[in-house]
Amino acid sequence: MLVPAQVLRRVDRQSCPIRCKNPVESAANVGRFAGLAHHEAGKRIASSRFCPQTATVGGATWCPVTSRHARNNKLQGDPNTLTATFSETAVIFGGPSPEHDVSILTGLQAARALMDSPGASQAIHPIYWTKSGDWFEVKPDSEAASFIDGLPRNAKPLELVVGGGGFRTKASGLAKRRPLEITTVVNCCHGGPGEDGSLQATLDLAKIRYTGPTVASAAICMDKISSAAIIAAENIPALPRRLLTTTSCDPGFPGPYILKPRFGGSSIGIDVVTDLATAVARLSTNPHLRNGAVIEPYRPDLYDLQIGVRSWPELQLSTIERPLRTRAGSEILGYADKYVGDEGMVSAPRELPAKIPDEVAQRIRDAAKQVATAMSIRGIARIDFLSDGDQVLLNEVNTIPGSLARHLWTEPEIGFKDLLTDMIDEASARPAASFTTVGADGSVLRGAGAIASKLA
Ligand SMILES: Nc1ncnc2c1ncn2[C@@H]1O[C@H](COP(=O)(O)OP(=O)(O)O)[C@@H](O)[C@H]1O
Ligand SMILES: [Mg+2]
Repeated sequence: MLVPAQVLRRVDRQSCPIRCKNPVESAANVGRFAGLAHHEAGKRIASSRFCPQTATVGGATWCPVTSRHARNNKLQGDPNTLTATFSETAVIFGGPSPEHDVSILTGLQAARALMDSPGASQAIHPIYWTKSGDWFEVKPDSEAASFIDGLPRNAKPLELVVGGGGFRTKASGLAKRRPLEITTVVNCCHGGPGEDGSLQATLDLAKIRYTGPTVASAAICMDKISSAAIIAAENIPALPRRLLTTTSCDPGFPGPYILKPRFGGSSIGIDVVTDLATAVARLSTNPHLRNGAVIEPYRPDLYDLQIGVRSWPELQLSTIERPLRTRAGSEILGYADKYVGDEGMVSAPRELPAKIPDEVAQRIRDAAKQVATAMSIRGIARIDFLSDGDQVLLNEVNTIPGSLARHLWTEPEIGFKDLLTDMIDEASARPAASFTTVGADGSVLRGAGAIASKLA
């Protein structure tokens, strides 16, 4: 539905005759979001799933004002103008993950970029997820340094209530609990429960829509064994990979070996060893391998090639980059290579576009598209390959990559705010979860009889 840019007003959810899930807003804030530059510039509009009479543009929900809306809200003005509701957007970052610090950088960048929208400064809620799993709302202009020793000043404690409760402030002193009117979460959590499906499942149960992977896609891509199985089923070339346990036999390929945490990321906890006995011994000495480990042949001749993929407004691929190692002779592209500099992955050394033959680039693009479909990629992912200049081997799919892989979109050129806005649009147009009770029609219960008779 196309909506001309007009006077913008909020709708009271209670009084909306079409129950369009818009946040309640007082008349005092009417006009807060007046002016819609990106809309006037011809921004694509996705239809909203909530209300047939609304459309979503970059996190804002737009309702054509019916005379009934206007009357119910005691708003003055032409009933043919539009009512806008800025769907409040949260940016979640941090989390109990080894990639906690990198995630703070991604989250703060996303919050800043989103603030650069008309009226957005009051509608962006940066939510910091602490290492111990607590939630705090922080200021959108917070700096990374404020998180070094814990919480930034003025961080407000929040709680997350499932079952439709959502985020709300905690009661303290005379202050009562207050819900945060958050409709969409921009997930900026790397590694751990923010990227493995746990946060996604919690938000599904809390009935909050979010950007990025669904529970299933997140969980599969975080698991180096499950994802390898899907890559193999797709016949996409990859190195052999096995689960490593204390009882592992010969993996079927000779050393040297590379050991990786089964559910890890950012090169944290990776070990290169010469033989199987040393590999097995590392299971008890390397804490990152405790939740599971995989073993692969270590190939020092391979280098990394990476490509971004996004799923909305359509499946699109980015420029291919070759990230560079900062230390000559290092065994792998390590944590320090990826995150040196103060902007996380954005300021890491790289060749962009990678200087590779067209034919190699084409193979990367084909495999990236194929795996993005196989893994049901949602949002922006980064797909990592290993190559010796000839072979192209798929290594992994990062569903919430560092800095959301924003630096990769040079061809096509897409700015960070547009990348985020499209992800937010996708979150409402293509919800991550839809639970169904179809089939639970009571027939089993009607024929069940007494429970005691079933136990007899
Ligand atoms: N089999 C391998 N041989 C040589 N180097 C590898 C191999 N697998 C990974 N690497 C190097 O190690 C880095 C981290 O491995 P990766 O599988 O991406 O783990 P993570 O999930 O921690 O990012 C890669 O970016 C690459 O530089
Ligand atoms: Mg990697």
